[in-house]
Amino acid sequence: MTEKKLLQVLDGARTETPPVWMMRQAGRYLPEYRELRRRAENFLDFCYTPPLAVEAALQPLRRYDFSAAILFSDILVVPDALGQRVWFEEGAGPKLDPVGRSDPLAGLGLDNFHQHLGNVYEAVSWLRARLPADVALIGFAGAPWTVAAYMAEGGSSRDYADVRGWAYNDSEKFQALIDLLVEATAAYLIRQVDAGAEVLQLFDSWAGLLSEAQFRRWSVDPARRIVEAVKAAHPHIPVIGFPRGAGVLYADYAGGTGIDAVSLDASVPLGWAAEHLQSQTVVQGNLDNLLLAAGGEALDEEVGRIVEAFAGGPHIFNLGHGIIPATPPEHVGRVVDLVTRA
Ligand code: CP3
Repeated sequence: MTEKKLLQVLDGARTETPPVWMMRQAGRYLPEYRELRRRAENFLDFCYTPPLAVEAALQPLRRYDFSAAILFSDILVVPDALGQRVWFEEGAGPKLDPVGRSDPLAGLGLDNFHQHLGNVYEAVSWLRARLPADVALIGFAGAPWTVAAYMAEGGSSRDYADVRGWAYNDSEKFQALIDLLVEATAAYLIRQVDAGAEVLQLFDSWAGLLSEAQFRRWSVDPARRIVEAVKAAHPHIPVIGFPRGAGVLYADYAGGTGIDAVSLDASVPLGWAAEHLQSQTVVQGNLDNLLLAAGGEALDEEVGRIVEAFAGGPHIFNLGHGIIPATPPEHVGRVVDLVTRA
């Protein structure tokens, strides 16, 4: 029997208190990360340098009793490895040379893909070798819809109206891009498991922008195909899906993808999730990342409410979205203490 509480819960066991980790648990809210980050000029180089990526992933574990480490990388290494130009501008977030609407696959391909990502796989295996015996290693990738949204828009966008319009206007060409991403993402995740990842998370951060039919086509169906491919190679690997903002469609996602757990954003009502999701799957979440940053009594109370609401079934404590840079590190410690003391 594994000592890793996260794996126990994903395997259907009950634990006295829920496992806990936080999306973006490594990163700019930690002064030691900001210091380390200076050792590489650009962010992708940082991700592709195993000693730096491994150290960034380990930093939060030295402060907090988290049940898991997550690979330190970014979802946009996949378009980078497919041949698209991707860069990060200080304060402006990610930038990409947008894919053309008439021939979205031009210049993209899998020829150099694994070679390009070799250092990420190396970081996974180093990290696995350095983890305490009770800490699980989570690998991850962006889901095809969310990654395609960045690839088509050329960066972050207020409402991703351009890519949403394109998916309606020329669904066949958009489907070709999604299909390439399904294949690339599955191959990428399989290699992460080969290298030592014990759990996978698929981040569909912009799933909540899709209408019902589009959600099924661009979020559920690609996730289902990725889970199928990953499980064909590694039948026992647990996969967590995060279709952020999916609302009641979380139930379709949980039922339609073959995923082992769903990560809930902070808008999902606890009672509804306990009744409609936790009965069929493991739930992860869903503390508001802004309440974590705010702290105080309201934070303590909400942590208690979440733990209690999900106490009747399998639950992984987490946020509804990643830690924001303005979060005081003590607030993270406070939450971990509250969750881990029975
Ligand atoms: O600790 C961890 O969670 C692991 C590392 C991780 C990063 N990005 C590091 C990062 C993970 C899991 C991601 C996922 C990611 N990246 C998502 C999905 C999750 C989500 O938050 O919705 C998305 C949409 C991205 C794309 C991305 N990367 C954006 C929009 C930005 C800029 C905004 C920002 O927060 O800076 C990034 C940059 C990024 N990814 C940073 C980090 C630590 C900051 C860059 C830096 O430190 O210089």
